[in-house]
Amino acid sequence: MKPIETLETKRLLLRKPKLGDVQAVFDGYAQDAEVARYMTWRPNTSISQTEIFVAGCVNAWNEDIRFPYFVELKDEHTVVGVVEARISGWKMEIGYVLSRRYWGQGLMPEAARTVVEWGLSQSQIYRVWAVCDVENAASARVLEKIGMQREGILRRYTMHPNMSDEPRDCYCYAIVK
Ligand SMILES: CC(C)(COP(=O)(O)OP(=O)(O)OC[C@H]1O[C@@H](n2cnc3c(N)ncnc32)[C@H](O)[C@@H]1OP(=O)(O)O)[C@@H](O)C(=O)NCCC(=O)NCCS
Repeated sequence: MKPIETLETKRLLLRKPKLGDVQAVFDGYAQDAEVARYMTWRPNTSISQTEIFVAGCVNAWNEDIRFPYFVELKDEHTVVGVVEARISGWKMEIGYVLSRRYWGQGLMPEAARTVVEWGLSQSQIYRVWAVCDVENAASARVLEKIGMQREGILRRYTMHPNMSDEPRDCYCYAIVK
C-alpha cells in the first residue's frame, strides 16, 4: 500500500521529497554531527552525499516500501526535517530527524503524531512502531509523547556508526489498535 502523499498539521506540511530539496537538507541538518549522533548515517561532508540521499528518498516513494515525508515549516516554507514511514503488511515503522535549530519546540511530536494517526486510521494497519538508541533520550521522549509504549530493548539491534563500531541496543516502542 502507498500512504497519503501530503499531511498537514498546525505548523507543518509533510510532503513527498523533491530533488530541489538537496540544499535545504544539506544546510539544515545533514552535515550536523550532533543531529547524526544516533542515526544510521555519518554526517555528510559533501553535497553529493546529500544528493544521493534525496534521490533515494524520491525513488523510495516509487518502490512502495518506504515513504519519507519531508517536513516543511509552513511559516518559513523551509524543509526542517524528515519523517519516514515503512509499511510491511499490518505494521508501519517510523523514523525521523529534525534540524537542530528547531529542536525543543514540539515540532517532531507534531509531525510524527500525524503520520501515526494516519497509519492507525488505515484498516489494514494494526501496529505502528519505532526504535531508538537506548541513549537517545530526546527521541524516546518524542515516542512517549505521541502515545507509544516502550515494549523493551532490542539488543544489538542497529548500527549507529557515530556511537560505536558495534551494533547498539535500542528501545522498541509501539502503539497498536
Ligand atoms: C529527537 C528529535 C527528533 C526531537 O525532536 P523535537 O521536535 O526537538 O522534540 P521535542 O520538542 O518534543 O523535544 C524533545 C523532548 O525530549 C526531551 N529531551 C531532550 N533532550 C533530552 C535529554 N538529553 N534527556 C532527557 N530528555 C530530553 C525534551 O525535554 C523534550 O521533552 P518535553 O517536551 O517533555 O520537555 C530531535 O532531537 C532530533 O532530530 N534528533 C536527532 C535525530 C534523531 O535522533 N532522530 C531519532 C532517531 S531514533
